[in-house]
Amino acid sequence: MADYLNKTVLITGGTDGIGKALVLNYLALGANVVTCGRNQQKIHDLEAESPVGKLCVLNADVSVERDCERLVLQAVNMFGGIDVLINNAGISMRGLLEEGGPGIIPVIKQVMEINFNGAVYTTVYALPYLVKSKGVVVGVSSIAGYRGLPGRSGYSASKFALQGWLEAIKTEVVEKGVHVMWVSPGFTASNIRNSALNHRGLAQGESPLDEQTLMDAATCAGIIVEAVAKRKRTVVMTFQGKQTVFLNKFFPSLADKLVRAFFFRNGNLIK
Ligand SMILES: NC(=O)c1ccc[n+]([C@@H]2O[C@H](COP(=O)([O-])OP(=O)(O)OC[C@H]3O[C@@H](n4cnc5c(N)ncnc54)[C@H](OP(=O)(O)O)[C@@H]3O)[C@@H](O)[C@H]2O)c1
Repeated sequence: MADYLNKTVLITGGTDGIGKALVLNYLALGANVVTCGRNQQKIHDLEAESPVGKLCVLNADVSVERDCERLVLQAVNMFGGIDVLINNAGISMRGLLEEGGPGIIPVIKQVMEINFNGAVYTTVYALPYLVKSKGVVVGVSSIAGYRGLPGRSGYSASKFALQGWLEAIKTEVVEKGVHVMWVSPGFTASNIRNSALNHRGLAQGESPLDEQTLMDAATCAGIIVEAVAKRKRTVVMTFQGKQTVFLNKFFPSLADKLVRAFFFRNGNLIK
């Protein structure tokens, strides 16, 4: 594993789930870490369990351009630069287009603003420092970045957009020594399904999956940290994830049927 002493890692959305596990993993490797979230209690909780002087947690919303600029400047002012940027902050949604009608439009916009625009803002402001360090830009995508998933139309769109954007800028900055990559976790136990917006834009407050059977956030973070150290191009995690990406690429009509069968029962969205 790469030596992270005197290296600075900026992780968006590091106060819960996969982001928090990434923060704790990089701190354990000796890195300086800057992260953010919107919930002040989660920020206090993370600060309380981390070593003083190595971690900075800001209350910042990645859908706000100025907050992303502030986050980047904080990392540079406090630790002198940025070596790795992990665009992790994200929310999900669960709502069918027909059910939501026009009410689902602000839901889709909000998901895009956080999952896609947030990554664009943070990467743009961090890029000069990543060029200086010949660093790494990471997007935390999803299997929904390869295969659109019902009920998650805005979420799928945001992850396709993220991957397309990262693929494009990868070949813009390659000769500057900056490595651009994305990772696609499968279903991972976290708060993401509780906070997912329903078709009315409210947190659904429950998970349609058995969270205990899913990959845990620490394992997911460990895979990401290793992939970043190896400067991998992409990582698709979980067997189910690999299977979905493969089937969708080579047998898309079969994938349509399997996805429908997985997510629906008697015409109702059950997952
Ligand atoms: N869990 C999965 O099954 C799964 C699968 C594939 C991909 N992913 C991706 O993994 C990433 C992390 O998800 P997770 O499962 O760890 O979710 P999570 O447990 O809900 O954690 C999300 C983190 O992002 C922060 N966040 C959300 N919106 C934000 C905003 N506008 N500005 C700043 N921070 C924000 C949250 O803090 P606040 O709410 O306090 O802001 C929290 O710290 C996401 O990009 C997600 O799409 C997750």
